[in-house]
Amino acid sequence: VTYVRNAWYVAAWASDIGKGSVLGVQILNERLVVWRSITGELTTLTDRCIHRLAPLSLGRCEGEKLRCMYHGFLYDRTGRVVEIPGQDRIPDGLRVSVYPSTERHGWVWVWMGDPAAAHTHLVPPVPGMDRSGYVFGRGQLDYNAGARLINDNLLDLSHTSFLHAKSFRMSETWAREHPKVTSRERGVVSERWFRNEGALGVIGSEPKVDTYFCFEFFVHGVLTQSFKTYALGTADALNGERPDDDPTQEYFTTQAVTPLTDKTARYFYMFATRQRRDDQTEYDSAEWATIETGFSEDKVMIEAQQRNIDLAPDARCVATAGDKCAILFTRLVKTLVRQESTDPTPEGT
Ligand code: FES
Ligand SMILES: [Fe+2]
Repeated sequence: VTYVRNAWYVAAWASDIGKGSVLGVQILNERLVVWRSITGELTTLTDRCIHRLAPLSLGRCEGEKLRCMYHGFLYDRTGRVVEIPGQDRIPDGLRVSVYPSTERHGWVWVWMGDPAAAHTHLVPPVPGMDRSGYVFGRGQLDYNAGARLINDNLLDLSHTSFLHAKSFRMSETWAREHPKVTSRERGVVSERWFRNEGALGVIGSEPKVDTYFCFEFFVHGVLTQSFKTYALGTADALNGERPDDDPTQEYFTTQAVTPLTDKTARYFYMFATRQRRDDQTEYDSAEWATIETGFSEDKVMIEAQQRNIDLAPDARCVATAGDKCAILFTRLVKTLVRQESTDPTPEGT
C-alpha cells in the first residue's frame, strides 16, 4: 500500500482535545499522542516513552509539558525529556519524535512526512466546522478495511444508485451519466448536473429542478462536497458549465479518511446546512439518520470487499468509464509518492 507521507492527515476533531487533554491516535501504522497544553498549544509526539516504551497517551498534561504516568519522565513540546524523577543528570538526546500538527476547519491535522516540508498552506482548503451561519452534524466510523477502498468509494459515486437505493433513494442518473472530472495539483474535481429531477436526483422528491453537484478530493483522503438547486433549464442555459455562485452556500459536507494501518481506517464526516432561524442549532435529525444509514451501507460493503480481496489477493479489478475520477486520483498519489522518493523535501510556496 502506498501513501503520500508529505500530506496533512486528520487525526481528531479539534473540539475533542480540550486544554490539558491527551489523546492517543494512530496514522499510517504509527502510534501518536496528540495533546493540548494549558495555554492551548497542540503538540504531536511519538506515543512511546523513551524509558520503557509505555504509551505517553496514558500520561498527563502538566502546564506546557507532558508526563509519562508510568515512571514519571517529563517531556517538553519539542519531545525532549526535561525531568527524570530521582535522577539529576538527563543524558543528551533523550527525546521522542515531534510531528508537525495544526488546527484547521475544526480538525487537528498531523503531517506524516518530512517536517521541513510541512507547510500549512498544504492543508486542503475545505469548508469545515469553523464556518459560521450553518448547523452541523458530525460522526466517525472505524473501518476494518484499507483507506484506499474508502477513497475509491467516495471518488466513484455511481455506487449511490445501487448501494444506497433504500437509504438515499437517488436515481440511476448517478450511475448512468458520468461527471466531468478535472485534475488539480493535489486532488481531483468532479462536477455534474442533474436535469429535471428531484433535488440531487432523489426519487419522488418535488419540485423538479436542475441540481449542480460537485466535489473535490485532496490527498490523502479529504473530500468536500456540495450541491445547489436551480430552476429547470439552468443546466442547459449554462451549457452544463459550473454556475457562478458559491455551491457551498446552502449545504456542504467535508469528510476525511485516515489510514490507521494498511487494513484499518478512520472515517470522519461532518455535514452543514445553512442556519434558517436563530434557534436552529442542530442538524435535521431525520436527515442525519438517513446519512448514518447510508454510511453503514458503505461500511458493510467495503469491509466485505476487503475480506474478499484478502481471500483472493491476486484477483484483478476491471476499470469502467465511471472509474475515471478514482483512476486520476490513484495516478496522482503514485506521482506524489514517486516525487517523495526522489525529492523528499519539496519547496513550499
Ligand atoms: S515508561 Fe515512561 S517513565 Fe517509564
Ligand atoms: Fe456511499
